[in-house]
Amino acid sequence: MTEPHSSTDLHHASEVVAVAAERRWVYIVVAIIALLLAMMIFTGLHWAAMPPSRVETIDIKTLHLKGEFVESNLGTAVEKDGRVVVRLIGQQYSFAPQCIVVPAGVPVTFRGTSTDAIHGFVVGRTNANTMLIPGFISTFTTTFPKAGEQLMPCHEYCGTGHEAMWAKFQVIPSEEFFAKAKAAERLSCVPG
Ligand code: CUA
Repeated sequence: MTEPHSSTDLHHASEVVAVAAERRWVYIVVAIIALLLAMMIFTGLHWAAMPPSRVETIDIKTLHLKGEFVESNLGTAVEKDGRVVVRLIGQQYSFAPQCIVVPAGVPVTFRGTSTDAIHGFVVGRTNANTMLIPGFISTFTTTFPKAGEQLMPCHEYCGTGHEAMWAKFQVIPSEEFFAKAKAAERLSCVPG
């Protein structure tokens, strides 16, 4: 064994390289797992200490029967404090109401939930965009500056009828809206 580049030496050298590479990858993998664990622990503790401000839950078995989301309470209403509130439900495969009407230039608060799968909606190209999750109430407030008609499709895949799930969305001048709101407690429109 005087030959320096014998096959045994080569074998030994390549083994040294392989072991070094394997050890390096073990360190990298352990570091990634440690980082992910640290992120899980951090977000878990952080969220427990600071719960998201708007977690409102609702029982999907009774929401048709009582409370805020009964059919007669869906649509747009002017609350006693003057806020404009849209209440809506997503279900396979439609929204209730099927046509939503809101005033232009006035903050509008949405409150929505789902009775079955996860749905979502976006109003045209506006920032009115949220998910509707069974058991939870989604809420946000936004303003539609311009009057006009928009489409409001479901944007979360919710089953075979997902593509056909959408509603009409009308933004009307605020004087017209508040005149209509005086005459009726809940406003919606006829999709046409
Ligand atoms: Cu509902 Cu997609």
